[in-house]
Amino acid sequence: MAERVEEDEQVGMAGRRPLVVRGDDYDQRFQELAQTGVDVHGEASFVKVLGRRSVLDAGCGTGRVAIELAHRGMEVVGIDADAAMLATARRRAPELDWRLADLTTADLSAESFDVVLLAGNVMIFLAPGTEAAVVANLASALRPGGLLVAGFQLDERGLTVEIYDDLCRAGGLSLVQRYATWDREPWRVGGGYAVSTHALAGDGVLVDGEPERAQGARR
Ligand SMILES: C[S@@+](CC[C@H](N)C(=O)[O-])C[C@H]1O[C@@H](n2cnc3c(N)ncnc32)[C@H](O)[C@@H]1O
Repeated sequence: MAERVEEDEQVGMAGRRPLVVRGDDYDQRFQELAQTGVDVHGEASFVKVLGRRSVLDAGCGTGRVAIELAHRGMEVVGIDADAAMLATARRRAPELDWRLADLTTADLSAESFDVVLLAGNVMIFLAPGTEAAVVANLASALRPGGLLVAGFQLDERGLTVEIYDDLCRAGGLSLVQRYATWDREPWRVGGGYAVSTHALAGDGVLVDGEPERAQGARR
């Protein structure tokens, strides 16, 4: 159920990297990019090809990915801690399920999803020290065979793929696939961006219609 909130409300924001551009201005940037011919729906295309039905867009912001996924026929729920971002999502798609909540503490015990998506660098916008709790909480929202999908910039002094894989392992997840981009360009060690899919450890999962087994380091 979507709750009413003030636009400047931000839940659990202490210590988090602030977004310089929020709400409608954030969305406007992507609309301008799209007008120049840039494909701004790489994340949605990536998820759609996974062939699943339901998606939790975790840190959905203005809903740009969730709204596109809904247009492509998927069931979506969007959660974000920033009310200004969610206000834009609600204006753009009032019929969808948007929730103001902190991913660290959001109660996801009553539902489960085929895909939990962390798009647009959400992992590096989390308050430092909360990453493990967020990954564990999101892992608990995965259906058997479900996938946690995350894309974010890598920083040798910050979040690396090794650290992210450790966070996932602690949350009971193993690496299934890793790419350099949302267009599935091959992953190369030392790359500046990674798109990773993880599944509950030992799960037999279908990836791109093919059976895969989550088994740990396939970097
Ligand atoms: C760079 S934006 C990405 C938004 C969206 N995923 C996209 O790709 O356009 C990062 C988002 O993560 C959200 N966020 C950061 N930490 C969060 C947390 N602990 N709980 C919920 N949302 C969080 C921010 O509010 C922000 O909307």
